[in-house]
Amino acid sequence: MPSSDRGGDGLRALRSEYESAARARHYAEERWTRTRRARRTDRREQGFVGAWLEELGPFRRALDLPCGTGRFAPLLARHAHEVVAVDAAHAMLLRHPGRSRLQASAGALPFAEASFDVVLCSRLLHHLLEPELRTAVLAEFARVCRGPLIASHFDSRSYQAWRAGIRRRDRARFAQTPASFRAEALAAGWRERDRRYVARGWSQQTWVLLEPVGERRTGGRA
Ligand SMILES: C[S@@+](CC[C@H](N)C(=O)[O-])C[C@H]1O[C@@H](n2cnc3c(N)ncnc32)[C@H](O)[C@@H]1O
Repeated sequence: MPSSDRGGDGLRALRSEYESAARARHYAEERWTRTRRARRTDRREQGFVGAWLEELGPFRRALDLPCGTGRFAPLLARHAHEVVAVDAAHAMLLRHPGRSRLQASAGALPFAEASFDVVLCSRLLHHLLEPELRTAVLAEFARVCRGPLIASHFDSRSYQAWRAGIRRRDRARFAQTPASFRAEALAAGWRERDRRYVARGWSQQTWVLLEPVGERRTGGRA
């Protein structure tokens, strides 16, 4: 598994959170199957992402970042000829079933401009606490992708975000309003086209379909 983790992009601490065999095992074997709520969340997220991929694809080349242990690998494989799976944590990649895997950090991707036709970024942005980091990662996706970006972020207008704020127990996660997310995305070259909620008003987890702004070509169908 090649590695091109250049580091130095301010994202190393987050990577170390996932760089453990026990964490990777949990993520691969239990995280999405252990409880009824986890299974329902996974089903809904696969549903939104699948519907968007169906509408806009099929694609030639997809980037799955962070790929984790491959939760979206089967779905992406149905909609793209080639899927490149990238994650910062070697431990997570070891549990990933794909053939095309690479260890790299979201802020410094080892790919040329417009190398991909679609990017999936599931459950990374809410880990990035500073707006500059989130915008830098979104801008890196804009650089390497000529088609749509499917991403998730935490919505601050939810019961879970309110509860986390009151209890001050979740300082390692960041929730923002849709307007703040849209402003950061626009600064990085993305316009929001659609938005879906795992459980609107309750769950923090929110999904967005973004399209490139400006010169870049939309589409990327195979
Ligand atoms: C919550 S998991 C999500 C995994 C997968 N996208 C999913 O939805 O199942 C977060 C992932 O982000 C990865 N990660 C953390 N920092 C990263 C970085 N700087 N660049 C790329 N991936 C990173 C972790 O290793 C972990 O696999």
